[in-house]
Amino acid sequence: MNQKIYPLVADILENSEIKNKYNNKKHIFSKWIKHTERTIAVSYYLAKLIGANTCTTIRAAALHDIADEPQFNHSKKCAIEASKLENNSKVIKAVETHMFPLSKLPESKEAWVLAIADKVINFVDLFDF
Ligand SMILES: [Fe+2]
Ligand SMILES: [Fe+2]
Repeated sequence: MNQKIYPLVADILENSEIKNKYNNKKHIFSKWIKHTERTIAVSYYLAKLIGANTCTTIRAAALHDIADEPQFNHSKKCAIEASKLENNSKVIKAVETHMFPLSKLPESKEAWVLAIADKVINFVDLFDF
């Protein structure tokens, strides 16, 4: 991962509970860590493009799929789990709306970036077989 990005999410990705998720299958074909790293990378560049806070956005990306099940609209559950590792309410709110339109409407630039980046990467992940 990019040297500018990793230090901003290292505490999350190096958490021992998070590390246990690395090899879980996520969004059909990809491993959790691959899907998450890709979502972080795309979120970073989209956030820069639209002037969103890059740190808030990528921390939300690092935490967005923290809850394993159910995968169908798990945003609320992910937000609850994410709040155990993150104090920034903007990060938590972005996690909570990452499955828009299945979840609530994103309310910040950062939340919109995550919702869009996750969808882009779900498409990319389809070719991971
Ligand atoms: Fe998700
Ligand atoms: Fe995701």
